[in-house]
Amino acid sequence: MTKKTILTGDRPTGRLHIGHYIGSLKNRVKMQDEGIYDTNIMIADMQALTDNAKNPEKIQKSIVEVALDYLAVGLDPEKSTIFVQSQIPALSELTMYYLDLVTVSRLERNPTVKNEIQQKEFGQSIPAGFLTYPVSQAADITAFKADLVPVGDDQEPMLEQTREIVRSFNHTYNQDVLVEPQGIFPPKGQGRLPGLDGNAKMSKSLNNAIYLADSADELQKKVMSMYTDPNHIRVEDPGQVEGNTVFTYLDVFAPDKEEVAKLKEQYQAGGLGDVKVKRYLNEILQAEFEPIRKRREEFAQDVPAIYEMLKQGSQKANVVANQTLQEVREAIGVNYF
Ligand code: TRP
Repeated sequence: MTKKTILTGDRPTGRLHIGHYIGSLKNRVKMQDEGIYDTNIMIADMQALTDNAKNPEKIQKSIVEVALDYLAVGLDPEKSTIFVQSQIPALSELTMYYLDLVTVSRLERNPTVKNEIQQKEFGQSIPAGFLTYPVSQAADITAFKADLVPVGDDQEPMLEQTREIVRSFNHTYNQDVLVEPQGIFPPKGQGRLPGLDGNAKMSKSLNNAIYLADSADELQKKVMSMYTDPNHIRVEDPGQVEGNTVFTYLDVFAPDKEEVAKLKEQYQAGGLGDVKVKRYLNEILQAEFEPIRKRREEFAQDVPAIYEMLKQGSQKANVVANQTLQEVREAIGVNYF
């Protein structure tokens, strides 16, 4: 039996945070280590440029940051091909062919793109590349004939759109060149880690994130500043655990679920202070992220080695993507000579 293929990645617009870790990185490391998949991890710099064309330095810097975050959490170039999107020319050509199979109104209805367009306040000036990035994402996925795409919950519409393109392509050109991918999502209820401020989403732009690269001090400060129950003023007051970020994090990260249940009970009854719960959460997060931070610091000592790793990964990725592009050209019939 041939191995199933994984293709996934992130936009390099800054460092990765613990929301990424819960939302997708953990799944990717686990799947990589199972050793039964052909694993490809892409740093999507062209996708990042779709709304950062005037700020390429930010993307350039973030490529190294994201690569360090990958290595820090345990993605391993010995087991996975880690590469950079812009270094794979076949992806751009595939995107051009796929754009002809998608309507503008379909792209405007893509829920993820729609949300992001609202958030980013483009007004009348939506970059065409931004509106069409789901098509380029379909090129990323299909170039590797990926079966599985481990990503955060917010990426489901991208997979839906990719599957539509695959079906349309295979039907239109009467071939079964392309493969329909399936998303791999985090366990139920753990899909989205809220921000420190209680906002449903942790994100760089909301300034409410804990980064994998944060120092022990920064991490502690952030935990101590977390949003809890605004009506829980005195220790003896009964407090709410629903929508209380500290307890949401404990549900996700605490290994000892019984202890969490006990703390919740105490908190709801009154008599348990925020500071105490936060200290408990801080200990748990420090234990989880200290080894990751340490590894990150070690890898950061040798940035040229990071570029070399990405270069080799990109060379490998080019071989696969070029092969698919060849098949796509033949299917369409643009292999004239
Ligand atoms: N859209 C993803 C993000 O928001 C990044 C990405 C680009 C991606 N191409 C991909 C993810 C292909 C999975 C598969 O970060």
